[in-house]
Amino acid sequence: MKLLLLNIKELLQVRENPPSKVAGKDMATLPTLKNAWLLVQEGKIKNYGSMDALPAIEGFKTIDCKGKIVLPAWCDSHTHLVYAGNREQEFVDRIKGHSYQEIAANGGGILNSAKKLQETTEEALYNQSAKRLEEVMRLGTGAIEIKSGYGLTTAAEMKMLRVAKKLATNYPIAVKTTFLGAHAVPAEYKDNKEGYMDLVCGEMLEKISEANLADFVDIFCEDGYFTVADTERLLEAAKKHGLLPKIHVNQFNAIGGVAAGVKYNALSVDHLEVLTAADIDALTGSETMPVALPSCSYFLSIPYTPGRDLIEAGLPLALATDYNPGSTPSGNMNFVVATACIKMKLTPEEAINAATINGAYAMGLSETHGTITKGKVANLIITKPIPSYGFLPYAFGSNCIESVIIKGKLIS
Ligand code: NIG
Ligand code: FE
Repeated sequence: MKLLLLNIKELLQVRENPPSKVAGKDMATLPTLKNAWLLVQEGKIKNYGSMDALPAIEGFKTIDCKGKIVLPAWCDSHTHLVYAGNREQEFVDRIKGHSYQEIAANGGGILNSAKKLQETTEEALYNQSAKRLEEVMRLGTGAIEIKSGYGLTTAAEMKMLRVAKKLATNYPIAVKTTFLGAHAVPAEYKDNKEGYMDLVCGEMLEKISEANLADFVDIFCEDGYFTVADTERLLEAAKKHGLLPKIHVNQFNAIGGVAAGVKYNALSVDHLEVLTAADIDALTGSETMPVALPSCSYFLSIPYTPGRDLIEAGLPLALATDYNPGSTPSGNMNFVVATACIKMKLTPEEAINAATINGAYAMGLSETHGTITKGKVANLIITKPIPSYGFLPYAFGSNCIESVIIKGKLIS
């Protein structure tokens, strides 16, 4: 089916020969086309141009976009969308003064989610996760990364990844999967972290690669979780299975995880709420994308990633949700973009670049996603009539999205 979008007030992120990512000063530029049309055919962006020179196109369904802005659907490169139940009680405990780390140390946190997930059937886990995926698609997400990490046994980690793969099959959204067995040390290994690392780097990695369940590997490199030595050991083992790293680093402490990630060619290093000059040095000249997760900072009341420092150092930056039951129970990329502007002082242009082209890069999808380019997948957000694209982060509490097109299909 052909879909023709007409009278688009402004078409954003239009790039004829797109780079794989944008960095530093270039992040301030968001190329756009005013008063435009765009043709979708067979799930791809077939063509676009100015309304002043609209060619005759036959056999299409038209959508009038008068007063509306069209942009690439969000690319959310960091989520834990497959999980069981919720952690509302821990949320209330935190309001009452207990810290996130304190709750985790008392058996809550990731271990709480792992217990729930192990007790949940694969079918129930799929149904809960599918609901979340449908919600984020309606909120404009067109490509998403989903991690394991709430299984913490070989069987439960594989169950999570199978659910993510099934979502990929049943929905038009692009899904990349990441093996995060090293998310927390399970209670059974409390005094034997090495034993758990043996399991993660051995059996889990082997079975998951054999079943082709993961595109990437991840580890929570943080005081109280896994060390830089654990990280290097896992990344070395994962390299043999051809899995590129995308790792959790510097959420609470800077212990050298950024440099370890860069050393192993990580596609991304994520969180970075605590960032040192040495971390910025390590990233300089690398191909690793720094990823900020501002709705996690918002929910936990922890510092925001110093995105301005990264951009001013000439580095790129991507934005993602971190959708998970503990630190960020929200998969809303619109809120992420707004929060990046409000709290991290990114301009709307920088934030939109970070949530589209750079998000696509951070999950290995730059060839097909993240920009308005002929031949790329037709993943589009059509806004309600709004005054300008700056209105998207400005009106942070409003839903400015009228409809979403994913792989050429109208979602809402
Ligand atoms: O990215 N920091 C590690 N993992 C998740 C949250 C884990 C949880 O609390 O369930 C995150 O914030
Ligand atoms: Fe995370």
